[in-house]
Amino acid sequence: MWDRFLRACRREPVDCTPVWFMRQAGRYMQEYRDIRKSHTLLEICRNTELATEVTLQPIRAHRVDAAILFADILLPLEPMGAPFEFAKGEGPKVFDPIRDEAGVAKLKIIDPEDGLGYVMNAIRSIRGELEGKTPLIGFAGAPFTLASYLIEGGKSSNYALTKMMMYQKPELWAELMSKLSEVVRRYLRAQVAAGAQAVQLFDSWAGALSQADYADFILPHVKHILGDIETLGVPVIHFGTATASLLELQRDAGGTVIGVDWRTPLADAWKRIGYDRAVQGNLEPLLLNAPKPLLEKRVDEVLAAADGRDGHIFNLGHGILPTTPPEAVSHVVEYVHAKSRR
Ligand code: CP3
Repeated sequence: MWDRFLRACRREPVDCTPVWFMRQAGRYMQEYRDIRKSHTLLEICRNTELATEVTLQPIRAHRVDAAILFADILLPLEPMGAPFEFAKGEGPKVFDPIRDEAGVAKLKIIDPEDGLGYVMNAIRSIRGELEGKTPLIGFAGAPFTLASYLIEGGKSSNYALTKMMMYQKPELWAELMSKLSEVVRRYLRAQVAAGAQAVQLFDSWAGALSQADYADFILPHVKHILGDIETLGVPVIHFGTATASLLELQRDAGGTVIGVDWRTPLADAWKRIGYDRAVQGNLEPLLLNAPKPLLEKRVDEVLAAADGRDGHIFNLGHGILPTTPPEAVSHVVEYVHAKSRR
């Protein structure tokens, strides 16, 4: 069934539970490392053939039920006026972090075709190669997660500078969030127009926020994006990590499918989110490094938590790690399909 992922997003009956993995393309695969020997991450993203090839690698290797565009959530920052690099071993570095009025003022609300046209070219190329056999997911970062990189300049453990702007300069914060959410809204629209059959909004670091701060400072901006994208008729996956206390608020902000990380049992999460939404998750990523009996036991537990209900998409609770054995990924795909066969 080529569309079991899309059907599950819409809570329609499926022949078995669909499976894909966040970060399913990447360093854990030899095929990806071979390409990385001669190209940087950004070169792969900007080159239609390479982005297409890397997107297809996990489809060929593991027979997952969805492809995810090979790109990065940070790509829009450069055309907005905040260039960055992926420093070796350190993750992303924004050259000139945004910390004051002048910084926010210089950020441009771009049209995605100006500066991100290569992403839409990759989507068209990938759709052509997939020949309708596997659906393609597009994605973008959510405004809080993007703002955290813009303000901190890279990864952060406590988001202190980000929260200080939010608390001390609420008007500046609102201006920054408005700019980011408008760019993300346009960018996701352009991805859908180019052929993305579903989109995922990654609010990876939203779990750093209290309920009150999420509700006051984040939710309206996420709603601005998702309220619009949901009118396009493609499923929208709304994902974050460490979101145990935020699931209801994230649901209220929008999403056809709500992503659940591994810290919250899936059965509890779904009950709280409500059975009128689909859910995606939520195996602990490092279980792919566990001995097979434990891995299978934990997969069984996720499937039992979903209880055969329509609207479950099997995934990890966060992205695949570089240490993951590719055989474990293939095994989980086959195992989930076999165990969930209706
Ligand atoms: O899922 C996929 O297979 C599609 C590709 C994808 C990448 N980044 C490629 C990538 C996706 C969906 C992302 C999203 C992304 N990027 C997120 C949200 C998802 C999450 O994991 O929470 C975030 C926070 C980023 C920002 C980012 N990009 C960081 C923090 C890093 C460095 C991390 C590290 O492990 O070094 C990246 C680099 C990056 N983006 C890699 C890949 C495959 C690392 C591989 C490489 O350097 O070749």
